[in-house]
Amino acid sequence: MTSLDAFFTPFECKSLKLANRFMMAPMSRYFAPGGVLTQESADYYRRRIEGGVGAVITEAVAIDRPGSVAADTVPHFYGDVALAAWDRARIGVEAAGGVMIPQLWHVGGCTDFNFPDSPHDPLESPSGLVGPGIEGGRVMSADDIDGVIASFVRGALDAQRLGFPAVELHGAHGYLFDQFFWDVTNQREDRYGGPDIASRVRFAADVVAAIREATGPDFAIVFRISQWKTYLYEAKIATTPVELEQWVAPLAEAGVDVFHCSERRFWEAAFPGEDDRNLAGWTREITGRPTITVGSVGLDRDLMQDFVEGQSVPTLKSLDELARRFDRGDFDLVALGRVLLADPNWLEKVRAGAVDQLKPYSKECMDTLF
Ligand SMILES: Cc1cc2nc3c(=O)[nH]c(=O)nc-3n(C[C@H](O)[C@H](O)[C@H](O)COP(=O)(O)O)c2cc1C
Repeated sequence: MTSLDAFFTPFECKSLKLANRFMMAPMSRYFAPGGVLTQESADYYRRRIEGGVGAVITEAVAIDRPGSVAADTVPHFYGDVALAAWDRARIGVEAAGGVMIPQLWHVGGCTDFNFPDSPHDPLESPSGLVGPGIEGGRVMSADDIDGVIASFVRGALDAQRLGFPAVELHGAHGYLFDQFFWDVTNQREDRYGGPDIASRVRFAADVVAAIREATGPDFAIVFRISQWKTYLYEAKIATTPVELEQWVAPLAEAGVDVFHCSERRFWEAAFPGEDDRNLAGWTREITGRPTITVGSVGLDRDLMQDFVEGQSVPTLKSLDELARRFDRGDFDLVALGRVLLADPNWLEKVRAGAVDQLKPYSKECMDTLF
């Protein structure tokens, strides 16, 4: 039985203060009619804190920009009614002893993977592309870029004003920020594009710098990155540690406090020719910033298999490996996704050794909020 004691220590980074090292990973649920989070969703988040995690990173939320999301049941993070609903959720989570971090989202040119037919405003993207030869969104003008930066700033300021301790920017999985990062989807010839990663990072760095300036030095900014895209698991932004540095160092410089490194399996090496460290391990060393690792903690199946076959079996065999990497200093925090969708009390049960009581993840977990 793995000891998770080392993970039950507090973590602090500027305004972000956590009781332990476990967080709920951001997971879209599409249960917000009219863009307003319901009390059922607020209770669902509170239950995960009651089950032992220190923080909830929310499902990705729409910023105040037409076409920022492509499904009409994604919760908004703008407007008095939607913000009041988020505030109620925050208060519930804090009453249970945890914190809530909104994940601010702009999908760029991507229609919604789960609801491709949902009505939505016209989409926008760096170069009208979402993948190799795959069109999506109109090409953003300089004014569009300025408008999106302003929308992200409004989202972060609203979060700060309401008392959220941090925001996370969804820079992963093929959405807007990632469409700028990736040379396949960014073919711009202005200052936001170019053959070198440094130019393609500029848009995200400008957003981060603008949020930093507006929110002040103490407000924690978390930035989520990934190599993989929802549409292409094998894609890579950085093929070497040097390229990773060109990608993440300007973001750290602009004001990112914590990097959330999204991988499908946390135990896989980011650069197999180098050593066994994952993306969180490398990013922590390169930037000197705390990192969050994620990806199949407590599961022995990958995300795609789950979507196709719909079931994954709880297992604790990866937890020794998680602890080994944590002890080595590869990352500071761990995000849990599907295990918490399936079982709000996963962490509590694992800590108590009640493995036989863990509920398996299945596609049916997506159908209700419990
Ligand atoms: C149903 C579902 C919805 C997700 N929605 C989001 C999202 O809104 N934002 C995001 O960054 N990642 C999202 N993800 C990815 C998760 O945050 C996480 O990285 C992934 O599930 C791997 O972690 P796990 O193996 O612990 O589930 C989603 C994953 C699932 C299963």
